Formats: sequence, structure tokens, C-alpha cells
Amino acid sequence: MTTIDTRPLRTLVHTAGSPEGEWWRDAVIYQVYPRSFADASGDGIGDLPGVTARLDHLAELGVDAVWLSPFYRSPQADAGYDVADYRDVDPLFGTLADFDEMLERAHRLGLRVIVDLVPNHTSDEHVWFQAALAAGAGSPERARYLFREGRGVDGTEPPNNWQSIFGGPAWTRTTDPDGTPGEWYLHLFDSRQPDLDWEHPEVRSEFEDVLRFWLDRGVDGFRIDVAHGMVKAPGLPDWDGHVSMIDGSDDVEPTDTVSGSGNQGPMFDQEGVHDIYRAWNRVLAEYPGDRALVAEAWVEPLSRLSRYVRSDEMHQAFNFAFLATHWHAPALRTVVEASYRASDAVGAPTTWVLSNHDVVRHASRLGLAEPGSRPNGIGRGDEQPDEALGLQRARCASLLMLGLPGSAYLYQGEELGLPDHTSLDDDLRQDPAFFRTGGAERGRDGCRVPLPWSATEDGFGFSPSGVTWLPQPEEWASYALDAQRGVPGSTYETYRAALQLRRESGLGSGGLEWLRGLGDDVIAFVNRDVLVVANLGTGPVPLPAGAEILLASIDPAFADDGSVLVPSDATIWARYTD
Ligand code: NOJ
Repeated sequence: MTTIDTRPLRTLVHTAGSPEGEWWRDAVIYQVYPRSFADASGDGIGDLPGVTARLDHLAELGVDAVWLSPFYRSPQADAGYDVADYRDVDPLFGTLADFDEMLERAHRLGLRVIVDLVPNHTSDEHVWFQAALAAGAGSPERARYLFREGRGVDGTEPPNNWQSIFGGPAWTRTTDPDGTPGEWYLHLFDSRQPDLDWEHPEVRSEFEDVLRFWLDRGVDGFRIDVAHGMVKAPGLPDWDGHVSMIDGSDDVEPTDTVSGSGNQGPMFDQEGVHDIYRAWNRVLAEYPGDRALVAEAWVEPLSRLSRYVRSDEMHQAFNFAFLATHWHAPALRTVVEASYRASDAVGAPTTWVLSNHDVVRHASRLGLAEPGSRPNGIGRGDEQPDEALGLQRARCASLLMLGLPGSAYLYQGEELGLPDHTSLDDDLRQDPAFFRTGGAERGRDGCRVPLPWSATEDGFGFSPSGVTWLPQPEEWASYALDAQRGVPGSTYETYRAALQLRRESGLGSGGLEWLRGLGDDVIAFVNRDVLVVANLGTGPVPLPAGAEILLASIDPAFADDGSVLVPSDATIWARYTD
């Protein structure tokens, strides 16, 4: 076979870098949501010894690093994103010794470990907040949070009109020790998650110290929760815009820089946050090796997001614009291009992501009539995704993502093709967003269901007792790891093959040239010597001649003359042969 010269049809978007760069530039990072990953204690809630016991799975899968959602001491009002003690492990998840053991095992397996830091707010059970409540108005203890007098007669109205991202007002009124109504405090999330005042020097020094505490234990980095929210506009002015965890504006038409994934308003993306990250960058630089800070910042346009990853700030920022883009090839091409333009301008890698613990899993999102639209959870009575179509598209989307240069984040279970639990009983739900919206938002429990490890064991092998804190749908037997391991073409084996090829071919540090001419519904590009063709259209398209298939998200089709066709909703990786 002869090599086909496709160079005239190529457009350079992103130039390849060195494969020898810092590890995070091209890393595939696997998100472990500890309460749902693996349970060792038998109480039905995942824990750190459970993570340790299953790290072999992640090494075998071929990821580079693990990011753990919070496991710190917490009353669990928001599944651990309400931290009462930043320097201890919640007994639900184990002990500090369990953490050290997990970290050591991960490092021995060659896996880096990133932990979650939640600096925008504490738990209401944090000693600082308890002291603030006890000390009363005007006290130094209250100055670490955002306490304010109410408006209106007797201060009965909240200090401003901000809404909580979980629904309802962003302010809660306190009661003074004598039983009379007192000041209000700000909470962008649940009332049990009071926002800290980042103008306060003690808040700043405390978090630098917390960083050091975990760096001293050997972590490789931090995922920073609500990284765009810590500093608020002076005077906390009223704002009439919409706030939501995932923005909620699904009707936004993706443009060059906007996909509808940005939080706006005087509580987000203020200039002052960048000073914090410059200081944290310096803290990390005191430690050997390449430690990383990754921003969870729902900020748009991408040029604003890229400001978080300037060379003296953080290292990565989740690319939610990509996650939020609908199943539409031109829109995806636009967002991919805009992502490289923005991150290349500051010398940072892009950071692709399709699923996490806050959004409906992509295997479910892509099975909806409006594929990729982002409902705030799916429940009984809502439109149910087409499971087979969702899985096919999810595999297509994942191979598209893993073929792109940059770093990529996987959410636990996506390597199994797991959908959300979309018919969970409302009385089992735990997400505060469900309660604060009166059920209007189903919330995020559907993507947080314990993983199926074994098709035949009770609780699909999640826990030795068979107990799971949320029920798993019966159909999940077919998604269990042991039902897929070693089965050619299974979602798990496809991910494993993709990660191996990605590593061997240097795709993470590679470049991107669009390959034009395959039609508007096709996303086709060349990364190093690998050709990636994702067909989002309704009919098959021919794979360019002379290209040999390396990997396919589903079985390819063949034309009458025997040439390869990329089926609808499929991605093929191929290499030109001589
Ligand atoms: C973002 C986290 O990912 C989410 O789970 C949490 O509820 C909010 N931040 C508040 O901490």
C-alpha cells in the first residue's frame, strides 16, 4: 500500500511539544470518588483501604495519576466538599495511616496522586465557623467568613440578592446567643458550607499551611475546588444573573470561546484570585519534583480560563467548555481550536474531560434526544437516555478525547462505559442540590453510584458485605469490570488499548492538524503519526485510503470494494503505512 499525501488537506492547530515535559502536561488522570470507588470496611461506603486494594486496576488500565475527591473530616453535608478538618481523614474513609499507605502503594505502582482542596468554604462544623458563631457580630472570629448585617427593617432581608448554586438564597441568618436573630453569612453552596473571606490574612496563611501538610506527606498536586470563587467583588453588589453548578444555560450556542459552561457574576472570576495562585505556585516550587495545581473553574471564555494557568499560577484547568459542548462536530471543532489557542498563548496544556462527579455521565448525556444537553441529573419520570446509543457515542467521544494532545481526566467507571443511575428513588437522594431546589434539580447522585467490580457478587463486588450506599441498577452486571476484562472490544479493553497507544505514540504531547475534506460531521485530525477520525454524522464515511486501523470505538464497516468505513457515532484511530 502506498502512503497517501494528505498534507494539502491539513491545517495546523497545535504544534507538538516535547514528550519529556512535566508529567502533568500529557497525563491521563483518573478521578476516584472515594465513597463510590471500593469499600473495604463493609459499611457500604467506599474508603481509602478500598482504594489501595484496587490501585492495581488503575495501573493495569494505564493511567498516569489519580485524583481523589475529598476524604477529610466532614459531616458530609455535601459529600465531603464541606470540610471540618483539612488535616485529617474522616473515619468514614479511614485514617491518616490509611492515606499514607494508599499514597505509598500508588507511588510504587508509578501512579501520581492529586488530592482535592476546598478553599472557598469550610463546613459549618469547622472550628473557625463554630468560633465565629459563638463570638458574635464584629468579632475577629467572624472576620474570617462573610458575615453581614441584613437589609430592610430589623435586617430581615439578606445582605444582597445572591442565590446559592444549589438553589435558594446564598445567605443564612444566624441566631444570637440570647435567641434574637443576628447577622447573615454567605454560602455560595449549601448553608452548611460558609464562604471564607479570602481578604483575611489568616485564611491565606492557613491554606498555605494545609498545602504544605499534604505536600509533606508526598502528594503530587491538588485539584482546587471552586477555584474561580474565592474572591468576591468589593461591596458584594447585587446580581440578577443565573447561577448553577453547571451553568444550566444549555441553550447557549457554542461560539469560538463560549459553550455555556461559565459561571458569571460578582462572586466569580475576580482579579484577586490570581494572587492566591501565584502564592501557591511558590509553595509548590519549594518541593522537589513537578507538583501540580489544577483549577476547577467554570470560567468562560477560554481566554479567561487560560489566565488561571499562566506560568506563575496553576498548571492545569479543567476544560469544561469541551464537556459542555453538544454532540455537534462543528461546535466541537470550534471548542477544540479555541482551547489550543487559549492554552498555547500561555504555554499551558489543555485538560480534556467528559465526565465527573458533578455532571450526568457522558454515556447518559449522549443518549438523550438532544445528545450532550446537560440536565441537572436525571430521575424517574424524566426522559430516559437510549442506553445503547449513549454507550456507542460515549466510546466515540472518549476515543476522540484521548486522541487529542494535552492532559485528560477520566471519571471512575467511564472505562466501563457506565451510565448514570437514571431512575433512582427520590427518597434515596443525598445531593443538597436536590433538596435546595425542591427536587427541580435531580442532583448528582445518579453519577455517584458505587462501581460494579464483579458481575456475580452482591453489590457487584463493591463491598465485602454486599452493601452499597446507593443502589446499583441490576443491568450493571454487564458493565462490571470482571465481565469486560480480557473481552476484546469491551469498553474497558478499548480504554486500555487507547491509553497504551496514546502513551507509545506520544499523543499527549503531540500536535494537532485538522484533516479536511471528510465532511462537516466528521472530526478528523492527525496527531504525530496517528490519524483520528470521529464520525458524528448519520451515515458511514470512508477512512482515508492507505491508513491502517489501530483502534476503533466499534467495529468498522466495509464498502463493497473492501475499503474501510467509519460508522456513524464511531471513532477510528489509524496510521498511514508504506
Ligand atoms: C465543586 C465540587 O466538584 C462539587 O461537588 C461541590 O459540591 C462544589 N464544588 C462545592 O464544593
